[in-house]
Amino acid sequence: MAYVTYETEGAVAIATIDRPKALNALNSEVLDDLEKVINGIDLDAVRCLIITGAGDKSFVAGADIGEMSTLTVEEGEAFGKKGNDLFRRIETLPIPVIAAVNGFALGGGNEIAMSCDFRICSENAVFGQPEAGLGITPGFGGTQRLARLVGPGMAKQLIYTARNIKADEAYRIGLVNQVVPQEELMPTAKKLASIIAGNAPIAVRACKKAINEGLQENIDDALVIEEKLFGSCFSSEDQKEGMANFLRKKDDPKKVKHVAFQNK
Ligand code: CAA
Repeated sequence: MAYVTYETEGAVAIATIDRPKALNALNSEVLDDLEKVINGIDLDAVRCLIITGAGDKSFVAGADIGEMSTLTVEEGEAFGKKGNDLFRRIETLPIPVIAAVNGFALGGGNEIAMSCDFRICSENAVFGQPEAGLGITPGFGGTQRLARLVGPGMAKQLIYTARNIKADEAYRIGLVNQVVPQEELMPTAKKLASIIAGNAPIAVRACKKAINEGLQENIDDALVIEEKLFGSCFSSEDQKEGMANFLRKKDDPKKVKHVAFQNK
């Protein structure tokens, strides 16, 4: 793949957007490569995905402005749909996805980060939706996900002013969960991913589904979604082994063991 590298370390996968000459900006080819990588993930083996950008300056500097500059109305709509379909696919991937934001996350860069389950970033990270300064709206989900993540008032202020914010402000408004020095970003992301990968995968997937789908519903319907997914866990070996292990532990602390959850 020319623009996206993919590697696995045990049950953790890392997809790195790599287009250094344009600060990892998303043109159609980068989106196509990322789609291929996402579609190729072995969901029987991988339990958590990290998405990051190559280098130490930029995560993703947005959608490609050169490519967008000559689009017609129809082509603009199609380009938005291309990004939206891919980012929705990331958002609804059964396994958790962590964005490790290592620099600029602007426009489509912030939008791809927001389609991940959560974001951690390096101290030099910069977030923003600069589109209004370019004569367009955010087009890969920014109007919707930013408002859902930080609330409509803050999202509107950031989008209307097209103001970029630094990592500390992104942390303060809840756009990122953690800010770390650049050199600690990938180790921190990998550590989080491996903690997630060590928990029962069926339960983790059910948690993701319950949160994502429940947030689209009223509280009563959302709680029904949770009940169904909670119930479904009781058919898994992981639930039997996870609970048996706790009870063994109570009975005799020496019997405590690490549960190697099996995906079933
Ligand atoms: N599209 C295309 N090329 C980009 C780019 C982008 N979004 N961002 C950076 N580049 C290119 C630059 O054109 C430059 O290329 P050349 O060396 O060939 O001139 C190279 O990357 C390095 O960039 P700069 O020289 O500008 O680097 P800098 O350190 O001076 O500035 C920056 C960094 C502040 C991120 C600046 O590059 C910038 O403002 N980029 C645009 C950010 C932006 O507006 N993103 C939103 C795009 S719109 C969008 O994403 C719509 C949507 O929702 C779908």
